[in-house]
Amino acid sequence: MKDVAIVGIGITKFGEHWDKGIKELAVESGVKAVEDAGISGEEIELIVGGNMSGGLFTGQEHIGAMLADALGLNPIPAIRTEAACASGSLALRVGYLAIASGRYECVAVGGVEKMTDLTTGQVTATLAGAMDRENEAYFGLTFPGVFALMARRHMYEFKTKQEQLAMIAVKNHRNGAKNEIAHFRNEITVEDVLNSPLVADPLHLLDCSPISDGAATVILVPAERAKKYTDTPIYIKASTQASDTLALFDRASLTRIDATINAVRKAYKQAKITAKDVNVAEVHDCFTIAELIAYEDLGFCKKGEGGKLIENGETESGAKIPVNTSGGLKAKAHPVGATGIAEIVELVKQLRNEAGKRQVSNATIGLAHNIGGSGATVCIHILSNKR
Ligand code: COA
Repeated sequence: MKDVAIVGIGITKFGEHWDKGIKELAVESGVKAVEDAGISGEEIELIVGGNMSGGLFTGQEHIGAMLADALGLNPIPAIRTEAACASGSLALRVGYLAIASGRYECVAVGGVEKMTDLTTGQVTATLAGAMDRENEAYFGLTFPGVFALMARRHMYEFKTKQEQLAMIAVKNHRNGAKNEIAHFRNEITVEDVLNSPLVADPLHLLDCSPISDGAATVILVPAERAKKYTDTPIYIKASTQASDTLALFDRASLTRIDATINAVRKAYKQAKITAKDVNVAEVHDCFTIAELIAYEDLGFCKKGEGGKLIENGETESGAKIPVNTSGGLKAKAHPVGATGIAEIVELVKQLRNEAGKRQVSNATIGLAHNIGGSGATVCIHILSNKR
């Protein structure tokens, strides 16, 4: 297997794009990534695009062909990946494998979602397709409901406090305020979170990621060719994926996501590191409880101590393990198919020392964690600025 490097990144603003369709968003991020890599479109041999539900959100299916066509790259082959909210990181994994196998020399990997053309109710019903339709969604369970169940159980088993969950939203809004592409750039307080409308007890509106539009793209080449394109290639040291039951009620525990634990264990082994070596992480905070559980599942703290980790400020920028310097899904936002690639864009900026006001000093290893559904798919990527 060949080593793989990222030599270009591109991302749109995340938010409500009333004036842009799914094609325009994908093309904008794709062109930015090509320009950043300093390549020409003809050098791209394969396109892999993550998209959760173009059909239900916008009426557009056949996303692979749409990307090749809109980018003016016909007849280059194009593949769409779908793994709910992990569609983007799955695209990266497919692109990574395509280069690592030696079959391709230059792959454009993107993620795109256009969600805001529907009402909140319609979006909620569409997203519910990522859970067990027959046994969960059919009976009215929603994603805020799924994560509320996990939060309640975590509070019961580990005495986790609602204030600690709120601190995660406060941190991520503080980080998002420094990110020019974030959907929300306002700072908030714990009181703001606790006083915001209740969505699914104990989760309030400000515990939730928003409904948003956006796209992100990265350009992959074999590591041995990376310096031809850039002085600052970022290497993919690990790419792993794990699956779990579609339905939450089939799991042994509501307070951990086994697919995260299985995927990250393999990733640390592949990258030959431990959790302690990670300098910066982008984790899947679709709801505040998801980030707290990720701290524990990724090994940033012991089981049950996620609440203490955030309360002690250890996941703030400049602290022990900065998490979601981009603002995360909470503030940067969560256009679902784009999220996995947006995490990678932030880590590449951090590892290139190009993150501006959000820069973590001396970061050499970054970890991206992306969940599909309530944890039925998890992808982990570990990046480094050292080969
Ligand atoms: N965080 C911060 N502010 C938010 C927000 C969020 N998550 N969602 C909406 N807002 C703001 C809006 O900008 C708007 O502000 P304004 O009045 O200043 O314009 C206000 O809150 C009301 O927005 P609205 O769109 O009417 O809210 P809503 O009640 O229809 O939807 C949620 C709010 C939380 C229910 C919706 O964002 C949601 O479903 N989020 C979860 C998405 C999800 O499940 N993703 C997949 C995860 S697995």
